[in-house]
Amino acid sequence: MIALGCDHGGYDLKVEVIKYLEEKNIPYKDFGCEGHESVDYPEYARKVANAIVDGQCDKGILICGTGIGISIAANKVKGIRCALCSDCFSAEATREHNNANILALGGRVVGPGLAIKIVDTFLNTEFSNDERHIRRINLIEE
Ligand code: RB5
Repeated sequence: MIALGCDHGGYDLKVEVIKYLEEKNIPYKDFGCEGHESVDYPEYARKVANAIVDGQCDKGILICGTGIGISIAANKVKGIRCALCSDCFSAEATREHNNANILALGGRVVGPGLAIKIVDTFLNTEFSNDERHIRRINLIEE
């Protein structure tokens, strides 16, 4: 189950991500927001982050205007490794190396075509399980 969240700056891109998830029959839970009215991105970061740490969802996608604020907020929650990506190389690497559990995107940064490729890469790349990466992730948790 994929947890989705956005603010007003990320709403349009979230609609595109939902289309992709529905086409691929990937189950998701949408934690808002619902449109272009101005909202506070930390609220949506918290909802998605909590859904992952409490086991309700496996991974998350958070979108604000830049992806920066919402990723900073999500990373305040213990157990969350949220990676802001604007390219597929980073999306692949953050799954393989960091076992990132949330992808953050900037709705005003990447177009929908690239964003969907980034989402596809993030969701379809497994953690390497490499001992040195596990050690580094454990150090982050400590
Ligand atoms: C909202 O205007 C904007 O600040 C927000 O979407 C995001 O870019 C913050 O990092």
